[in-house]
Amino acid sequence: MRGIEGWFSEDEGRWYARFARALRGGVFVEVGSWKGRSTSFIGRICNANGTRLVCVDHWSGSRDVLAPRYASALAVEDVEAAFRANMSALGIVVEVLAEPSTIAAARFDTASVDRVFLDGSHDGASVAEDLRAWSARLRPDGILAGHDYSFRHPELCAAVDAFASERGLVVRRGPRDIYWLER
Ligand SMILES: C[S@@+](CC[C@H](N)C(=O)[O-])C[C@H]1O[C@@H](n2cnc3c(N)ncnc32)[C@H](O)[C@@H]1O
Repeated sequence: MRGIEGWFSEDEGRWYARFARALRGGVFVEVGSWKGRSTSFIGRICNANGTRLVCVDHWSGSRDVLAPRYASALAVEDVEAAFRANMSALGIVVEVLAEPSTIAAARFDTASVDRVFLDGSHDGASVAEDLRAWSARLRPDGILAGHDYSFRHPELCAAVDAFASERGLVVRRGPRDIYWLER
């Protein structure tokens, strides 16, 4: 959405909006929200559809190549407060879990989540952990998707490919750096 700094392009946002629109009710989890740019494309749709929208972010940096960029931003700004203010300005109601992704995942029952969108740390170990933790929370017909499946993040691509091959899933591509896993 125009005005909120972040990493999502408009065409990725349109794809993300469609991804959210297809769900009525249910639970949508976004991991890695930063200032809410990606969230801004889906928030009102989730609210209108009666979908419980949960944003997970510890707002304390990352273990990937973006770490220096987060550190310099976090040194001068309360990014969690900026996220909350941006959501509030857009009238988006969101449940925030301000903690590490795998700890947040443990709060959900097995097979209780309909959509997961991963955009947390992009290093191989974190992506593998996120995929394992959140796929265990997905309903059988749930969908796991994510951002930054790109040559700029080879560890992320390798972790997604390895997970897909281990589980017999196919990696599908959306616009730019969007991916999702299909049975
Ligand atoms: C690439 S940014 C998210 C960008 C956002 N989706 C957007 O559209 O602008 C990654 C976010 O993931 C968060 N993050 C990184 N590792 C995390 C973890 N293990 N648990 C929770 N949040 C994490 C960071 O604090 C950061 O806000």
